Amino acid sequence: MLSTQLKNFSKTQLRTLASAAKSPRVKTFKIYRWSPDTPEQKPYMKEYKIDLNECGPMVLDAILKIKNEQDATLTFRRSCREGICGSCAMNIGGRNTLACLCKIDQDHTKETKIYPLPHMYVVRDLVPDLTHFYKQYKSIEPYLQAPAPKDGKENYQSVEDRKKLDGLYECILCACCSTSCPSYWWNQQQYLGPAVLMQAYRWLIDSRDHASKKRKEMLQNSMSLYRCHTIMNCARTCPKGLNPGKAIAEIKKQLAFD
Ligand code: SF4
Ligand code: SF4
Ligand code: FES
Repeated sequence: MLSTQLKNFSKTQLRTLASAAKSPRVKTFKIYRWSPDTPEQKPYMKEYKIDLNECGPMVLDAILKIKNEQDATLTFRRSCREGICGSCAMNIGGRNTLACLCKIDQDHTKETKIYPLPHMYVVRDLVPDLTHFYKQYKSIEPYLQAPAPKDGKENYQSVEDRKKLDGLYECILCACCSTSCPSYWWNQQQYLGPAVLMQAYRWLIDSRDHASKKRKEMLQNSMSLYRCHTIMNCARTCPKGLNPGKAIAEIKKQLAFD
C-alpha cells in the first residue's frame, strides 16, 4: 500500500521526505560582512546555521541557501557554478578557492569560516575589488600580436606548439593564486603576481605571436617579475590545478638566457 502511494510522488518530493526522516545536521557558517552603506560599522563575522540534509554539497550551495532563505543582504559573486567563470573565488576555511568547487566539510560539529580573497579592497561582504588585478592583466597585452596571414586564412600552429599552451590557457583568472602570494600582498602596485605572469608566459611562448621581444622587455625590471621568490602558495591554492610558479620560473629562464 505504502509503495503504491510512494510511486505517485515526484523525485523532489521523495528527496524531501527522505531528508525529513533524517535527524538534522546543523552546521555553522561564519561569514565576513562589511557594507559601504554603513562605513562606521567595522567588518564583522556573522553566524548562519544550515541543516546539511537540506543543502547541496558545495559551499556555493550553502551561501546561496543562506541568501535565499535567511539573509538577502549577503553579497557575493557567482555565475557558472561549475568552475568556469572564476567569479566565486573566496577564502574558505583558510584557503583561497572557488565556492562552487569547494565541498562543504560534512563534519557538522565544525564551523566553516568564509572571508573575501585576502589583501584586496572589499566592495561589499565577499566581493573583492579586482580593478587593479584586471588593469595588470590588460598591461601584458593578452592577445595575439602577429601580421595577418598572407592567404587571408588562419594563423596555423603545429600540434606540438599548441601543446606548449596546455596548463596555461585553462586559467580562469579567478585571482585565487595572486591573492595567496605574500609577494603580491606586499607589492601589488608593481609586482604583477602569479595569475597575470602566467598569462604573460602563455603569450610569450605562443608560436604564432611576434611580440616576444617587447613582451620580455616589459618584464625586465626589478618589480614586475622578480618579486616572485618561489614560495609556491600559488600552485598549492589554484582550484584548477595549474602551476603559475613554474610558469614564472620559465619566464625567468627565458630572460636569463636571452
Ligand atoms: S611562487 Fe612566486 S608567485 Fe607563486 S606564491 Fe610564491 S612568490 Fe608568489
Ligand atoms: S592560475 Fe589558477 S588560481 Fe591563478 S587565476 Fe588562474 S585559475 Fe585562478
Ligand atoms: S560560479 Fe563560476 S567559478 Fe564558481
